[in-house]
Formats: sequence, structure tokens, C-alpha cells
Amino acid sequence: MRSPTPEDKFSFGLWTVGWTGTDPFGGPSRPALDPWEYSDKLAELGAWGITFHDNDVFPFDADDATRRRISGRLKDAADKAGLVIEMVTTNTFSHPVFKDGGLTSNDRAVRRFGLRKILRAVDLAADMGATTFVMWGGREGAEYDGSKDVYAAFERYKEGLDTVAGYIKSQGYGLRIGLEPKPNEPRGDIFLPTVGHALALIAQLEHGDIVGLNPETGHEQMANLNYTHALGQALWSGKLFHIDLNGQRGLKYDQDLVFGHGDLISAFFTVDLIENGFPGYPDGPRYTGPRHFDYKPSRTEFLDGVWESARACMSTYLMLADKAKAFRADPRVREAMTYAGVYDLATPTLAPGESVEAFLATDDDFDPEKAAERDFGFVRLQNLALEHLIG
Ligand code: GCO
Ligand code: MN
Ligand code: MN
Ligand code: MN
Repeated sequence: MRSPTPEDKFSFGLWTVGWTGTDPFGGPSRPALDPWEYSDKLAELGAWGITFHDNDVFPFDADDATRRRISGRLKDAADKAGLVIEMVTTNTFSHPVFKDGGLTSNDRAVRRFGLRKILRAVDLAADMGATTFVMWGGREGAEYDGSKDVYAAFERYKEGLDTVAGYIKSQGYGLRIGLEPKPNEPRGDIFLPTVGHALALIAQLEHGDIVGLNPETGHEQMANLNYTHALGQALWSGKLFHIDLNGQRGLKYDQDLVFGHGDLISAFFTVDLIENGFPGYPDGPRYTGPRHFDYKPSRTEFLDGVWESARACMSTYLMLADKAKAFRADPRVREAMTYAGVYDLATPTLAPGESVEAFLATDDDFDPEKAAERDFGFVRLQNLALEHLIG
């Protein structure tokens, strides 16, 4: 089995390996280390980059000098370890002041405080040399429909996002925003529950050109949706700026399992899309950004288990990448894809220059009864994938 190297572009949130196991039913099951202890260890395991929330590194109430001292020390440690700080984000969910959201709280004073906190984290991101600024609005939402004017909430969400994106441009920062959808948890219903909802909001923004997506595996799956399709549509829209890989098993709380420890065959096709692109478009859009993991080492594990789980995210990805390469190179798979019409879908339905009038004037001698007898062979194709995966 291959060992991860920086060329693989694996990155981890400091809050992932740094999660101490606290959940709604119990306190921490392991100690918290300093941020640079996590980054040193991740570098040793073969990671390429790290990411963090402002308050993963310094406390919520840190003064300017403390912010600078601690984030400076982390940057030095990352530089020394050869790690890129590729993404920085803001925590607008832990402190109770954000209990009704940051950008969409019903309390205007909280919105002004939240927006300032986000803008300061943008400065921090630029300082750290990050290229992506993630915005996960975990507390932007509601439990009770009567408690929110949804029109106003979207007005304020748009206002907030355009202010942040406009600020990035005015400062000349090399940052792009990645919105992270999630259907629920911690709010009963979160605004921007899916990739599709986020794409629709981006289309309404003034500065939407630097706003895209950071889709997380488990979040689409919590909504019973297909993560690989979400990545595909974001890529097709030119909006796949960043990814959060992890595992989820069905419709339950956000499990944040190790990548591949949830729906394995879905993980296989996720990696297949990332590594091999769209089958019918060899020159089509590709995701070239970080292979970023946002998972939680299970609460049952102590520190050895934390590092083991980080290793598992990377090795699972590499195993799937090798298998996906072999899958695409297999002549039986190419033949099955041809038989299935997978490549044919890339052919435009109308002929070049064909007018709708000319199109309507013919029926192509099409026989629907005959066409209905076509066998697509999708099941055989899927089983070839399974053969590559576990055979
Ligand atoms: C979750 C979310 C968060 C965000 C992270 C970035 O699991 O609910 O993924 O972990 O990704 O906080 O803001
Ligand atoms: Mn999650
Ligand atoms: Mn995430
Ligand atoms: Mn997460």
C-alpha cells in the first residue's frame, strides 16, 4: 500500500484530530494538544496541508497580541514542517451569542458582531497564506418556522456574503469563499441545506464570482442525497472550490466518520470523479484542490486512535484512487460504458446548426417500442466497479 506524500495534497482541519470527544451526552474522552502538536504529527503522517477555525487556534476572547502570538507560532510550525495552511474559517457557532446565527440572527447587534468576526478571520486567512475561506453557517437557521422571516434571512445572508466577498476583493486577497451546506445540526433546519440551495444563493450575489462550494460527504448524505452528484454539479457550475471528505451511514446525526467508513461504493465513485474526471469529457472541468478531510476520530479512541484514524482517511483515499484508475483502464469497463451509452451522453441532442423547425419536421424514423427494448447494462457496469473495489 502506498504511503501518503505531500504530492497527494491531503489536508486536515485542526478541529478534526483536535476533537476531544465531547458530545451532547458526555465530556472529553481525551486531552487537547496545542495546535502545533497536531500539525507536526499530521506532517509526519504525510499530510500536505492544514486548515482551522480562528478559535481552534486562539480563544474567542483573545486580544490582538494573543491572536498574533499564537497564530504566528502555528504559522512558523507549519512552515518548518513544510505544511501549507490552505484554508481558514471562522467559528460563528460555538459561543452562545451565536445561538440564533451570525449573519442571520434576528438580533442586529449580533449580526454586526458576527460580520466583524468573519472579516477579521478573512484578514487572518490572508496572513496565513490561505487560498480558501470556508463559510459553514451551522447556526444560520431555525427550529420553529414562525421564528424566522425567511425573506429577511436571505437578504441578510446575501448582504453578509457580499460584504465578505467585496472585502476580499477590495483588499486584493487571493482568497475564494467556499460555502458549506448542511441540512441540520446544530439547528433544526439550516439555511443552505444542500449544494443546490447554495448554488442558487450564489447566483444572486453581486460578488458571486469568488463564491463557490465546500461540499461535505456526510452533509449531502444526511439529506439522503448523492455526494458524487453534488460534486459533479458543483464542478459543472465552475464552483467546486474545496471539499470536506468523511463518512456517514444513512440518515442520522452527523457522524463525521473516517472517509470510506460510511457508504463505501459512493466513496469509490467520489474518488473516481476527483481523480479521473467526467468519462465523456476528457478535457472537462477537474477538481485540483486539496483532498481535505473533515472527520471526527471516534470518541472511543485515545491519541493512538486519533493518528490511526487520520492515517485511515489518507490510506482509504489512496486505495480507492488506485482502484478507480484500474476501473477506468479496464477494457471490460470501457466496453460496458460504451454499451451503457455513458460516452454518448456527451453528444448534443440537436445536430450542429440544426434549427428547431428542421428538428420538428422529422421524427428520425424513431420507433419507441423498439427503443424501449434497449438494455443499458448499468447493473453489469456497477458490478465491474464492485469487482474492482472488493474483488
Ligand atoms: C460539520 C461541519 C463543520 C464545518 C467546519 C468548517 O461537521 O458540521 O463540517 O465541521 O466543516 O466547522 O466551518
Ligand atoms: Mn459534518
Ligand atoms: Mn465540514
Ligand atoms: Mn465537520
